Amino acid sequence: MKGSNLFLTVCALVTLVSCSETHFKEDKIFAGGVYVTAKQLNDGKSLYTEYCMPCHGVKGDGLGVAAKGLSVPPRNFKLGQYKFGKVVSGELPHDQDFYDILKKGLNGTAMLPWDLTEQQAFNVVQYIKTFAPEKWEGADKKLGDVIAVGKDPYGAAHKESAIQRGKEVYHVVAQCWTCHRAYVPHAELSQIAQKINNAPMTEFDPDMYHVKLQPSDYDIATMPPEFTYDQVRSAATVEELYLRLNAGVGGTAMASWKGVLQDDEIWAVAHYVKSLMDMKRTPERKQFLENIKK
Ligand code: HEC
Ligand code: HEC
Repeated sequence: MKGSNLFLTVCALVTLVSCSETHFKEDKIFAGGVYVTAKQLNDGKSLYTEYCMPCHGVKGDGLGVAAKGLSVPPRNFKLGQYKFGKVVSGELPHDQDFYDILKKGLNGTAMLPWDLTEQQAFNVVQYIKTFAPEKWEGADKKLGDVIAVGKDPYGAAHKESAIQRGKEVYHVVAQCWTCHRAYVPHAELSQIAQKINNAPMTEFDPDMYHVKLQPSDYDIATMPPEFTYDQVRSAATVEELYLRLNAGVGGTAMASWKGVLQDDEIWAVAHYVKSLMDMKRTPERKQFLENIKK
């Protein structure tokens, strides 16, 4: 009698433990041939549970207790979809892309920088892949091509002409303002249209000076930044903007411009966006926005 009670207790304990903790027992191979041991996954899980789970959730669904009320919700890792990889939107990012995000955080969001050792970063990045096994598991899975950032054809010496060209690309060639907003008055927009398309602009979208919420593949619609006010999450320099424009923002309306615009146009528009970002919290910003209304 006593013995069977003990047996039951042990069973209950074993079930409890195995329910609350799925210990990895086998090594895995992830996309791009990344080999991970069961120990590394278990270590990654411990670290995740301590640091990341409050936001990203026990199940990796982004529904952690600390996620409530965040205007930019934590990533749902079960989708196996990421915004800020250094690959064309929709492709799987490289481990290095995740390390960079962990190291720098994402400006203006609850995703802060993390001071992790190389081994810790490796382990936790491998662990978050286990939330989306159909995307990551298997030696046959491919990572996106790394987007190379070559030499800026304008450089500091030709910054002003880059900004001027970028303004034309932004407003007429690519029409970034259809989601973001326009930063030139009607008359100037019409002049640029005349120069680029040989035809002035005669009709103006009444919404062109507002940012517009866009649908996304995540659980919410996402807001394009107003560059003179909002934080750009993944880029602070012209090079980083060039990279982001080539990559796009995965799973959002912000598509990759690689191959859509010419390379020097992407550089020019990166300079232009940077010039708008530089206006943030400056006295000139107010005057700049006033002048657009004229
Ligand atoms: C305080 C909340 C919070 C904590 C804690 C947190 N994150 Fe995040 N994380 C976020 C938010 C919010 C985003 C989404 C940002 C966005 O969509 O722009 C995010 C996004 C991410 C992304 C997605 C990047 C992409 O390109 O889509 C990764 C990867 C990530 N976090 C990893 C981690 C890891 C690993 C930890 C623990 C070391 C962690 N996070 C801890 C809030 C948090
Ligand atoms: C179809 C709508 C759309 C168009 C067109 C568009 N964007 Fe975006 N853009 C977005 C959205 C939505 C986001 C926010 C994505 C997110 O973080 O959820 C965004 C984000 C960005 C970011 C911030 C990336 C970061 O790291 O936070 C930059 C820079 C940017 N866009 C530049 C541009 C430029 C330059 C153009 C034109 C060449 C352009 N966008 C055209 C919708 C658009």
